[in-house]
Amino acid sequence: MRFSIRLALPLALVIAAVAFVVTPLIDRYTQKWFVRDLDIRSRLVSEVLRDELATFDAKEIATASSRARVQRTLDRLVRDERIYALAICDANRQKIAATDTFAAALTCNEATSNPADRGEVVQAKNGPLHLFIADLSLSDGTVVHSVVAHDVSFMTKRSQETRRAFFGLFLFLLVLVASLSVLVAHLTWKGWLRGVRELLDLAKSTPKISRKLLARAVPELRPIARDLRDWAHEAARASGQRDPSQITWSPEALRSILQKELSGEEILIVSNREPYIHTRVGDTIQVQVPASGLVTALEPVMRACSGTWIAHGSGSADRETVDRGDHVRVPPKKPAYQIRRVWLTPEEEKGYYYGFANEGLWPLCHIAHTRPTFRSEDFEQYRKVNALFAKAVLEEAKTQNPVILVQDYHLALLPRLIREKLPEATIITFWHIPWPNSEAFGICPWREEILAGLLGSSILGFHTRFHCHNFLDSVDRYLEARIERETMTISYGSELTKLNAYPISIDWPPRRLEEVATTEECRRRVRERHHLSAGTLLAIGVDRLDYTKGILERFNGVERFLDLNPSFRGRFSLVQIGAPTRSNIFQYRQFVEQVRAEAERINTKFAADGSPTILLLERHHEPEEIFEYFRAAEMCLVTSLHDGMNLVAKEFIGARDDEDGVLILSQFAGAARELPEAIVVNPYDVDQCADAIRLALALPIEERRMRMKSMRAYVQEFNVYRWAGRMLIDAARLRRLAGLKRSRTEGLEASFSDFR
Ligand code: F6P
Repeated sequence: MRFSIRLALPLALVIAAVAFVVTPLIDRYTQKWFVRDLDIRSRLVSEVLRDELATFDAKEIATASSRARVQRTLDRLVRDERIYALAICDANRQKIAATDTFAAALTCNEATSNPADRGEVVQAKNGPLHLFIADLSLSDGTVVHSVVAHDVSFMTKRSQETRRAFFGLFLFLLVLVASLSVLVAHLTWKGWLRGVRELLDLAKSTPKISRKLLARAVPELRPIARDLRDWAHEAARASGQRDPSQITWSPEALRSILQKELSGEEILIVSNREPYIHTRVGDTIQVQVPASGLVTALEPVMRACSGTWIAHGSGSADRETVDRGDHVRVPPKKPAYQIRRVWLTPEEEKGYYYGFANEGLWPLCHIAHTRPTFRSEDFEQYRKVNALFAKAVLEEAKTQNPVILVQDYHLALLPRLIREKLPEATIITFWHIPWPNSEAFGICPWREEILAGLLGSSILGFHTRFHCHNFLDSVDRYLEARIERETMTISYGSELTKLNAYPISIDWPPRRLEEVATTEECRRRVRERHHLSAGTLLAIGVDRLDYTKGILERFNGVERFLDLNPSFRGRFSLVQIGAPTRSNIFQYRQFVEQVRAEAERINTKFAADGSPTILLLERHHEPEEIFEYFRAAEMCLVTSLHDGMNLVAKEFIGARDDEDGVLILSQFAGAARELPEAIVVNPYDVDQCADAIRLALALPIEERRMRMKSMRAYVQEFNVYRWAGRMLIDAARLRRLAGLKRSRTEGLEASFSDFR
């Protein structure tokens, strides 16, 4: 409203001024201009008549023949369409000769009362006429008057036309100027916006990038841009290090850390497992997201940071989907980063993955009472494959100091192999599984090589401080290294490695929530799918079929619960999603057999009571399907016998935006340290497990809400972006220290005592 008044009022004033002041003014001037023109023309006609009449004297002019001659001249002259009438009047104001039109409009008396030799516009009978009276001398000196009358109605017509044309032109110009102004303002505004945006980019950019941006900045803004950049860089320098607890962790925050702290370096992630597996099913190629905590955590990080994820191409259609450089862009629906696939022969995979990694290191690190098996031929393959991954890293690295995130126990030798080739690289290694005590670790025949390999890292992360200490103890026991327990740093050879606990997490809000139905709908669908009666109470377990996950102990807990609480028989079911895993390994095959047998035994035991007690779903489930089960369940059972973190627990929390659902969590999962609101159990204690299930069903809704709300708030804050961001911040600080080391000769060790 105020805007339209502000716009309309000046516009109305301008139009009124044009209509009532400018147009009449123009009118007057054009009239004057016409009159002057008519004066000149009339004077010319008068001159013609003067010449004609100069040949007569007073007597002659009175004769009929002379009059007729003069009349002819007048008639000839009046043929000019602009001359309306002509007359010659004598000194007594009597007509000597005149055109017909004269008589109709005027008399000599009227006409000659006007001053001579000057044009005047008079109102005649037929309308306005321009009259020009000239005194003409005959040959004897007698004075007669010529009257030249022009019709000036054309003047009015022309003046109207001029006025109209002018007004039209004015309006046209008004619209044109207004449109141009709007356009220019818009472009200027856009230019400024772009300029301001560039300024902000500049402030956020690294010195290297800022030089390029500055050259591109809007010229008028360049001085401000320079000041802003200098100020921002100064502020960044002054702040020295970011405080992770002050950051709201999101994909954007992570990107900004990368940009500001690590000069926008492209990230390379290296892991055995790839985040997207292409599998051939008949004529089609299907894409699978593997059941892996590592993938769950790192995939959103890669979406945020882009870069390259180097991993084993294990899918049956993986080779069909890569380009010539063995790259494929993912996620398939909205590519944000690329996978670089590393190909392994069946022999390499057998020795490296199934053998040393999963029959050796996996049981070694998990206290799950499965004996590790170490074979030298497996370790040979492990060495070989780690070297293959190192080669891929070198091929993908675009600079001498890339940021490389090495993942897990499959690639323990990789950090050192990279360090040897890229001494300035920032290598962040994360060990996703527990680290055993030094005695247990000592079982590994190649313990020194494994430790030395990991100490090629700039940063080595574990889920808990407990595992960090176990690692320090192992180094202390088996290597010649300098250990600073206070700062958790290890100096080995010329390398320095910083150890820290970085509890892994999930993205927040979980992306899957966008696609799932309401909890009510999920409940309805799950019950319908498994033919469960409407009142059936559901528990959910989601695991790879791995002996470390405590699946048998879980089943036993359920059985005990039903033994002790018979009223729940037939109306309590555990849906156990079991993702097939490592089935080439005997212990895994054997374990699956045991799981099946136990489920069958328990189901048979309670068969008469209604709904089946255990629904064992032995297949790969996509994350969306798993979220549906999470939302449908009364409780989630995580009963690992030993687990680095266990992200299933956090994903269950992420899925419950209705703030309901109870988490039963093993005290031996890293997650138990972070989530005391869960019902924490010892999975080996069958009575405690049974009791936990009974308690979960008995908790009033208010308490369930309170617990879930609190866990959700925690996971939201301590999400996966914080996990990755903290490591990147620490890595950035290390890089700065390394820079100092190069510029000073004292060495890095002195500086490291500050690194807490
Ligand atoms: O979560 C521990 C972990 O070893 C991951 O590192 C790994 O990706 C996951 O288990 C699944 O194992 P796999 O990759 O052998 O299927």
